[in-house]
Amino acid sequence: MIIRPAKNVLGAIRLPGDKSISHRYAMLGALAQGTTRLTNFSTGADCASTLSCVRQLGCVIRIGQDGAIEIEGQDRLQAPATSLDCGNSGSTMRMMSGILAGHDFSCDLHGDESLSRRPMGRVITPLRQMGARISAAAGDRPPLHIYGGELRGIEYQTPIASAQVKSAVLFAGLLAEGETTVEEPYRTRDHSEQALRAFGVELTRSRNRVTLRGGQKLHAIQAVVPGDISSAAFFLCAAALFPGSNLVIENLLLNPTRASLLDVLKLLGARISVINLEEHHGELVGTVKIEHGTLTGTTISGGLSVALIDELPALAAIAPYTRDGIEIRDANELRVKESDRIALVARNLRAMGGECEEREDGLRVPGNQKLHGAEVDSGGDHRIAMAFAVAALRAQGESVIQGADAAQISFPEFFKMLESVVER
Ligand code: S3P
Repeated sequence: MIIRPAKNVLGAIRLPGDKSISHRYAMLGALAQGTTRLTNFSTGADCASTLSCVRQLGCVIRIGQDGAIEIEGQDRLQAPATSLDCGNSGSTMRMMSGILAGHDFSCDLHGDESLSRRPMGRVITPLRQMGARISAAAGDRPPLHIYGGELRGIEYQTPIASAQVKSAVLFAGLLAEGETTVEEPYRTRDHSEQALRAFGVELTRSRNRVTLRGGQKLHAIQAVVPGDISSAAFFLCAAALFPGSNLVIENLLLNPTRASLLDVLKLLGARISVINLEEHHGELVGTVKIEHGTLTGTTISGGLSVALIDELPALAAIAPYTRDGIEIRDANELRVKESDRIALVARNLRAMGGECEEREDGLRVPGNQKLHGAEVDSGGDHRIAMAFAVAALRAQGESVIQGADAAQISFPEFFKMLESVVER
């Protein structure tokens, strides 16, 4: 993909449904009584992986005339005939593991080359404590073999802040005997809690602890999935770069556990307003307008790094164009995403003539830099492909994004939509 420098980002867009919410609605729809109907479902390959797993587990899925996904829930899922293919999706493998641990059959889960390198011990440990038998390849990597069955509720303190781990344990807890509590070191995205409630499950939350009782029944929902704020991040960051930008994003997910990017961009100096706030199934949704302001600099660390984990590549990609630069700390998790995102961001910034300091848990990108167009590499990672398309908009000269088709994983429409709002 060739990206030419831009002058401005202008227009109004609506984005496909949030990936995190789409995964959860599809998985819980599979367990619910009745037919769940989801409009604006994520168009990415990751959520298609979840749908195909759900289908292999015996659920009928239809695509309605308006493109809505209809999932007929099953009281108990059925043993799949073949190994479940999770593709590139860590969310699919980790969260499905929680559901499968509570089913009385054995099955395998596998993924692509990137997913096969990712750590699964983080879900295997608590699920074993609940009574599941799970085996994995060396280093607790995929493929997984799960022998599910009767589970008992546990009280689990997650050593790493991960919404996928929290969700896997809560989903297993739903199928377990007794109560399950998950406590996390930092608050992570709470879509599972919101979705469980929307499907009729009672749960309690206090600070970073969530508790639910096993054996509760789920009831199908009809929902419009809010636009994906992690996809919006690339547009918001791009708009923040140009003096004449004016971009409106409608129907955008604004759940406070996901919307920290707006606070950071505001703090950096972008002008942002939010209107038409509504709540649907516990999720805040609204219209966001962003205009340029002079971008200063900031440090992102601790709980903020957790909250922004998927948006950090986009922020790092605009950091050279800020006045004072951006420092990212406490983000070791970036090293075990779809790629080692710290290493790839550093390598690509340098390819564009940028300076940056790579650290074990993050990066320091100085501000006030001029980048030149270059050949950059997505490393097969969707967020790296899109982040560097944004960096390329402010560079001098053309850039080539190798492996740009990785964007399909979360946002197949990305490059087309970017072209539709970029002024040259
Ligand atoms: C996700 C949680 C995060 C995030 C991923 C989606 C989710 O991963 O990076 O893209 O939907 O729960 P971790 O749970 O590994 O932090």
